[in-house]
Amino acid sequence: HDKINIAIDGPAGAGKSTIARMVAGRLHYVYVDTGAMYRAATWFFLQRGIGPEEVDKVLRFLPDLDIELLPEEQGQQVRVNGQDVTEEIRTLAVNAQVSRYAQIEGLRERLVSLQRQMALRKGVVMDGRDIGTCVLPDAEVKVFMTASVEERASRRYKEMKEQNKISFEELVRSIEERDRLDREREVSPLRQAEDAQLLDTTQMSLDEVADHIVSLCRTYG
Ligand code: C5P
Repeated sequence: HDKINIAIDGPAGAGKSTIARMVAGRLHYVYVDTGAMYRAATWFFLQRGIGPEEVDKVLRFLPDLDIELLPEEQGQQVRVNGQDVTEEIRTLAVNAQVSRYAQIEGLRERLVSLQRQMALRKGVVMDGRDIGTCVLPDAEVKVFMTASVEERASRRYKEMKEQNKISFEELVRSIEERDRLDREREVSPLRQAEDAQLLDTTQMSLDEVADHIVSLCRTYG
């Protein structure tokens, strides 16, 4: 069988990355977490004290930013200029700012071109917000994954390491705020591609979702 590309988009906490990783494992494909790239960029600029409103500065320092995704057994290691930042990019500080940096067009262009390079040889499962609409409009299989905001927040809450610093209600609000910014931004906002299949996972188990996507891939072509 020829390899294909699979695009998985949807709002925060819908389970995209867990599912994308499972699907990639079953098909022996490469998993690419594009959210991790926006998080890595956010970490880099926060470290340098450059805020998301300082667009000119962000663009000036962009050439100094080198992001690598290295496949590992449990997902992937994320490196910024050679430094392992896999844990650092999952903090509340990064969560709170990432959608603001993700609005910057020049930053998106840079990351999108890296993402397209990674998918050139096919056999990629890529998750994000604009994969089906912008990064890989020709992906053979496109899924738009959603779940209720309560379900998404509770999934995120369980995997969080800083539960002592935020209440469940605050987490619901921060997820809603991130979704709002992602949906309302001007450059490639979060939306379902016309040819994407909508999958509401609120009542589905991880295996059910992964099985469904793998079967979409098997019936493709
Ligand atoms: O997927 P994750 O929740 O880690 O993504 C973090 C943030 O990165 C999103 O809320 C969004 O602002 C941004 N993002 C994006 N485009 C993508 C992936 C992520 O704008 N393809």
